[in-house]
Amino acid sequence: MDAREADARIERVLAEYDARAAAESRHFAAGWDLDDRRDQLLLRIGPQTGRLVNILAKGAGARSLLELGTSFGYSTVWLAEAARETGGRVVTLDLARHKQDYARTMLDRAGLADQVDWRTGDALEILKELDGPFDFVLLDLWKDLYIPCFDLIAPKLAPRAIIVADNMLRPEYSRADADAYRAHVRRHPGMESVLLEVGSGIYVSRYAPAGA
Ligand SMILES: C[S@@+](CC[C@H](N)C(=O)[O-])C[C@H]1O[C@@H](n2cnc3c(N)ncnc32)[C@H](O)[C@@H]1O
Repeated sequence: MDAREADARIERVLAEYDARAAAESRHFAAGWDLDDRRDQLLLRIGPQTGRLVNILAKGAGARSLLELGTSFGYSTVWLAEAARETGGRVVTLDLARHKQDYARTMLDRAGLADQVDWRTGDALEILKELDGPFDFVLLDLWKDLYIPCFDLIAPKLAPRAIIVADNMLRPEYSRADADAYRAHVRRHPGMESVLLEVGSGIYVSRYAPAGA
């Protein structure tokens, strides 16, 4: 398969996610309740954040990528495309097997399945077992888990690793957890960070330990 066909496969898969997200928006407008539907929803990072994490991971030459919160695989597509370019791999974690099953199908159709290792279960348990070092991390599971996950990941970060945390500005109900996460990261030695008004608001942090 040539590069143009490979890109076209990814574009088709991303367009399918866009269509599903648009349908979800229509259902919400018609009265769906978030709590009832949470495990059926993409809850995706969205196209701007997707593109940005892809560019950041490629720019950093990240070869060991970690994703916390696969959901249905939208962000995994962006990370796996970066991993294909860098010659790396993505380890992606989610509690929900049905979501990862769907994500596997989509990554396969996008031609990116070889870039991904799937782990199903509680991130707080799986992270204890995973070896680093990680070059790039996307934090996008339930927001009250950001700080405990960060604490498990921090000792396994490669020098110059990048962590992107989603939902820093929206939704409003997770704002307290988001603020607490940012304060926690700021206290960690060697982290330099910026809050960006991209998508739902992202906090981009770079690990720059003294002497690295
Ligand atoms: C916001 S969604 C992820 C969206 C995805 N990154 C995307 O952009 O398509 C959050 C996901 O975190 C998962 N999750 C929540 N708690 C978790 C835990 N303790 N361990 C692993 N995954 C968890 C949920 O099942 C859900 O699919």
